[in-house]
Amino acid sequence: MNVLILGAGGREYSIGLALSKDENVEKIYFAPGNGGTDTLGENLSISDFSELADFVEKNAVDLTIVGPEGPLVDGIVDVFEARGLTIFGPSAKAAQLEGSKIFMKNFLARHNVPTAKYIETNSLQDAYTFIEKLDVPIVVKADGLCGGKGVIIAQSKEEAKKAAGEMLSGNSFGDAGTSIVVEEFLDGYELSVFAICDGNDYIVLPAAQDHKRLLNNDKGPNTGGMGAYAPTPLVNDEIYKKLDERVIVPTLEGMKAEGMPFKGVLFIGVMVVKGEPIILEYNVRFGDPECEELMPLLKSPASELFYKAATADLKSAKIEFYDKYAVGVVMASRDYPYKSSAPAEIIIDDIYHEELNENAHISYAGVTRGDEGKLYATGGRVLVCVGIGDSIKEAQRHAYMLVGQIHYAGKQCRTDIAYQVL
Ligand SMILES: Nc1ncnc2c1ncn2[C@@H]1O[C@H](COP(=O)(O)OP(=O)(O)O)[C@@H](O)[C@H]1O
Ligand SMILES: [Mg+2]
Repeated sequence: MNVLILGAGGREYSIGLALSKDENVEKIYFAPGNGGTDTLGENLSISDFSELADFVEKNAVDLTIVGPEGPLVDGIVDVFEARGLTIFGPSAKAAQLEGSKIFMKNFLARHNVPTAKYIETNSLQDAYTFIEKLDVPIVVKADGLCGGKGVIIAQSKEEAKKAAGEMLSGNSFGDAGTSIVVEEFLDGYELSVFAICDGNDYIVLPAAQDHKRLLNNDKGPNTGGMGAYAPTPLVNDEIYKKLDERVIVPTLEGMKAEGMPFKGVLFIGVMVVKGEPIILEYNVRFGDPECEELMPLLKSPASELFYKAATADLKSAKIEFYDKYAVGVVMASRDYPYKSSAPAEIIIDDIYHEELNENAHISYAGVTRGDEGKLYATGGRVLVCVGIGDSIKEAQRHAYMLVGQIHYAGKQCRTDIAYQVL
């Protein structure tokens, strides 16, 4: 089959890499892709949904996979499905689970899915009253999509009130912040759990842990994610069972009952508090960098997982994972996440070490290919070094061996990915 992947990050590269090893897949297109995806397939510079659908029809693309949330919230799935095209991702209505934190919180409340105590409001007075009732820290969230920057964890009531005021006035996040959620702080450890859904059935992938902060030991500012590993031993069968019964089943049943069956990746942001999984949020697509670790753990053909999910046929899928671990280390550019950095040429040493060649690879993200074929670091998160191993420690060693082979001016990465479990 021929596949189109929408997006430009390491997430989309890793999906493409998995599909490129799948003998059922002939041709892979990326829109827009990046300077690395051009070795896996063909990059397209089309972004208009109707033009993309035209391309899919003309070029016999059998399946479109949407990487990022933006096009999902903007309704690309609805446009494709109205034209009878097969696409993996939720409808615009279902994508509100990510597109609006208020929608998500109210949905969780309606269906008794455990989540932090909250109010949603557009009134500063109501926000103040609720803030007075909570213990610190207090969490204030803008309603709409803010590229991972719309959440403030306030260490005092004054700070929480200030954050609420700045969001509601439209000063911090424009329209995305004109309604807010104020909620209690949950103290525990965080997991990323992914369920691939087809509207009726679902498959839960191995749970992962992300590293949001820029610096080792979770210090420094928040980022899009500096590394991840999977599966995490912090999840046991009991937690998976609770997630199934209390979270995934009621969510998928609820979405169906409310007339917006969920198809695509349900990304469950979980805080485990005293052994109980509490839901922080939903996203409606893969996490980046979690996807980069999950794709190489997939033993079954990637096309089977995505095509069957897109065509409501997961029931007939037999999806298997390798009994291995993956660790991904994000290499970022010099001024990430503060500002963009000058393009820097990337030099990758030839790797003669067989252990490394077999157990580590790069997932390219913020890279551009120059006219002479050279690669340049041009984005904030440049690439992800993914190591595979029989233990997390071995996978981590492979990932960092690969990091050592990659050079560009200003490269930065954390040196402690997976520290939580080592
Ligand atoms: N109620 C909460 N208690 C503790 N930490 C929280 C809470 N809500 C969010 N966080 C932290 O803030 C991060 C971002 O919040 P999240 O709801 O995932 O929003 P987004 O990913 O859209 O920015 C989470 O990954 C988590 O680390
Ligand atoms: Mg989040």
